[in-house]
Amino acid sequence: MQLKINATGLNGTIEVPGDKSISHRSIMFGAISHGETVIKNFLRAEDCLSTLHAFEQLGVKIEDDGEIIRVQGDGFEHLKAAKQPIDIGNSGTSIRLISGILAGSDFTTTLFGDDTIAKRPMNRVLNPLRQMGVVARGVGNLETPPIEITGGSKLTPITYTMPIASAQVKSAIIFAALQAEGETVIIEKEKTRDHTEDMIRQFGGEITVEDKLVKLRGSQQLVAQEVLVPGDISSAAFFMVAGLIVPNSQITIKNVGLNPTRTGIIDVIQAMGGKLSIEETQSDNNVAGTVIVKTSELVATEISGAIIPRLIDELPIIALLATQASGVTVIRDAEELKVKETNRIDAVACELSKLGADITPTDDGLIIKGGKSLHGGKVTTYGDHRIGMMLQIAALLVKEGRVELERSEAIATSYPRFFADLAKLSR
Ligand code: S3P
Repeated sequence: MQLKINATGLNGTIEVPGDKSISHRSIMFGAISHGETVIKNFLRAEDCLSTLHAFEQLGVKIEDDGEIIRVQGDGFEHLKAAKQPIDIGNSGTSIRLISGILAGSDFTTTLFGDDTIAKRPMNRVLNPLRQMGVVARGVGNLETPPIEITGGSKLTPITYTMPIASAQVKSAIIFAALQAEGETVIIEKEKTRDHTEDMIRQFGGEITVEDKLVKLRGSQQLVAQEVLVPGDISSAAFFMVAGLIVPNSQITIKNVGLNPTRTGIIDVIQAMGGKLSIEETQSDNNVAGTVIVKTSELVATEISGAIIPRLIDELPIIALLATQASGVTVIRDAEELKVKETNRIDAVACELSKLGADITPTDDGLIIKGGKSLHGGKVTTYGDHRIGMMLQIAALLVKEGRVELERSEAIATSYPRFFADLAKLSR
């Protein structure tokens, strides 16, 4: 698919769909708390629907009237054995967090997914869960899916120093810790997204967070809530960058979630000289606001260290942004990109090079020489939604030739309306 952009660039207002991380967790918290949880603005995309269907298989009653989702929760102890292995599709967040939720179950569950999930390491989650008393195994050294989990009858709390910065691993341990007797302590390598911690509080639980130190006790009873999911900053990121690099553009993106553990891309855009303003912020359980971007002259920057987990999913589109800046942008400390839906360091470097960008992969990031104009070519998403959306935005800059995008259907993983929103802005 190749969209033609008219001479006035991308202009108008959009509202991106609900946050993926919060949508997953809203079903999970609904299932493990007591009473009816009501979810508004849930992301009805493949990944989050995988979580929804997984909990239906685990015996949780979930109703979706197309507007609102209602989850009838009855605590961890009322989850039931699934009749068959659970297919979580493409969703790393589902398989990792559900592993933690099943840590205290008195049955065995098999979890599997598609060809990209089959390559994703699960040892990072299964190792700490085993220390707590879970019996689990996956395939090979990295314990990739399919995985089999049998809950521990009595879970032991642990003190766990995380070897990697991962909100999925932290969240799996937190869900297991809620079922253990006594206090679990997690020491993060870098501070990662804190939606699980926020939602424990929202659902009436207690958790202590001091920067990278997380403490919580087990046997807590959570109470059902109403969850209003804010728009996903990780989806908004594609249009923020599009508005900055497509000539003659101004895009307004409404209701963007602005949790500080997710806003690294805004810091980077501002450091690169991008014209970005945040018009209003409203606050309920989640901070959200309206983000406005305009076509800008950009300068290169360096991205490394503590900011990386705050923009980990945005690095493919940030790499594209850097191709349009003057100077050399260096991305470091991002080796986690190698174990996402695809190896995103290699995929970004390979596919953007095919379109004429000057971009070199390194062991833990990318080096991008900006200022090269892009040309047409045949590129692939590798089945990775974020690579797909990044390449579609790159295609908007191409003046000579066409960009042919293979496996573009992957975009539905997180943003089924992506092409419709892009078309709306280019009218
Ligand atoms: C997520 C955490 C991140 C992120 C993923 C969603 C979450 O993964 O890349 O898209 O919802 O907890 P890691 O924890 O593996 O970094």
